Amino acid sequence: MRAAGFQSIVVLTGAGISAESGVPTFRGPDGLWEGHRVEDVATPQAFRRDPALVQAFYDARRAALARVAPNPAHAALARLDAQWQGDLLIVTQNVDDLHERAGAARMVHMHGELKSALCLACGERQPAPETLSDGPACARCGAHGRLRPDIVWFGEMPYHMDRIEAALAVCDLFVSIGTSGAVYPAAGFVQGARHYGAHTLEINLDPSEGTHFFDEARHGRAGELVPLWVDELLQG
Ligand code: OAD
Repeated sequence: MRAAGFQSIVVLTGAGISAESGVPTFRGPDGLWEGHRVEDVATPQAFRRDPALVQAFYDARRAALARVAPNPAHAALARLDAQWQGDLLIVTQNVDDLHERAGAARMVHMHGELKSALCLACGERQPAPETLSDGPACARCGAHGRLRPDIVWFGEMPYHMDRIEAALAVCDLFVSIGTSGAVYPAAGFVQGARHYGAHTLEINLDPSEGTHFFDEARHGRAGELVPLWVDELLQG
């Protein structure tokens, strides 16, 4: 990679960056996410069909955050954020809070956050209490039992798309870390960035579904490869 000369970077992260922290990825060898098919816990239809199951599922994921910690890949991106003088946007598909716990600030959660709740009555996004299963009241409108996980489910519009599209249009380096490239629109960001002339790099355990779209690919563990890449960039 030409280390020097970049001004504006977009980094896309997926479940693979949190894998070494002990957060399971979505598309494991058994095709299940913590014992469930993704469609059974990550669609509005699933929530309408069985809200108790979906609330319990995300309550458990939220509780599990207390038992994990950022790994060297999150720390390296936080270091990049602190030291990179040019533009940077870290776009995560992850709903955990490990990027911000590592110290990253120039970042957005495009698929929502476990630590946020969304009121179905008034639309307010708000910090989630420990559990949503017991039907707590909305902090804004007071409605009981109307808070849902503030997670972007299949068929719903990801957050921050205007900001992400604007950053992709001006970036000269796009890096995708730990994502299988199976879910759009995130899977299409590499093509968007390329279209605008960015150098594109994939860092993933194995070749993603869109690996052929990247100018360069590095395959291995994020906890090892991301700190090396950040060193290279900051020293370049
Ligand atoms: P996936 O589970 O689909 O992909 C994770 C990727 O990380 C795979 O390609 C793994 O090979 C790779 N990986 C695993 N361990 C790694 C490691 N230690 N270092 C580097 N790479 C590693 O997860 P995502 O691509 O993030 O959406 O999934 C995208 C979206 O699908 C999620 O945000 C979620 C899901 O449905 C919603 O919930 C809306």
